[in-house]
Amino acid sequence: MRKDIDHVLISEEELQKRVAELGAQISADYAGRCPLLVSVLRGSYIFMADLSRQVQPFCQVDFMAVSSYGSGTVSSGQVNIVKDLSDSIEGKDIIVVEDILDSGNTLHYLFQVLQARHPASLKLCTLLDKPSRRTKPITADYVGFEVPDKFVVGYGLDYDELYRNLPYIGVLKPCVYEKSGE
Ligand code: PRP
Repeated sequence: MRKDIDHVLISEEELQKRVAELGAQISADYAGRCPLLVSVLRGSYIFMADLSRQVQPFCQVDFMAVSSYGSGTVSSGQVNIVKDLSDSIEGKDIIVVEDILDSGNTLHYLFQVLQARHPASLKLCTLLDKPSRRTKPITADYVGFEVPDKFVVGYGLDYDELYRNLPYIGVLKPCVYEKSGE
């Protein structure tokens, strides 16, 4: 697996430090409240696990799954809810937790869906932000790292369902996805 990685973009230590900072910032911003962290599966599962343990004193968690990419490297533009939330979000303070904000297509759609359910507030926390790729008008309220337009994997992010379990964010060698013809 390591041979497919061109270089480490964000180390395990840098990730842990930044996630702790984001958790502290959210804890301060939501002091006296109990935000509901909504993880968008599958890419955000590791970030969600780490971030939620840094939000003090209370938070709740729930999970959604959407699909937009298939196995390719470019968004299809089509978003489907594969798994919906378990409970109503009406009147709750929602923080959507994402691994990466790329074209913005997924989050733009998701925010319309969630806003229609009348939460008290709705914010976005993304570990990675690729603003150079944005085609939809959406910005994150909390950003871990701004990243260049490279194919990044690890810490939850995949290529063709592999590499999610890498402990760091790495740049995938182009030959890995070019050889699949995509
Ligand atoms: C990734 C990521 C976001 C979306 C961002 O999910 O988790 O949901 O793409 O891209 P966008 O801004 O261009 O819409 P993906 O569809 O790869 O599924 P996964 O979370 O299961 O890896």
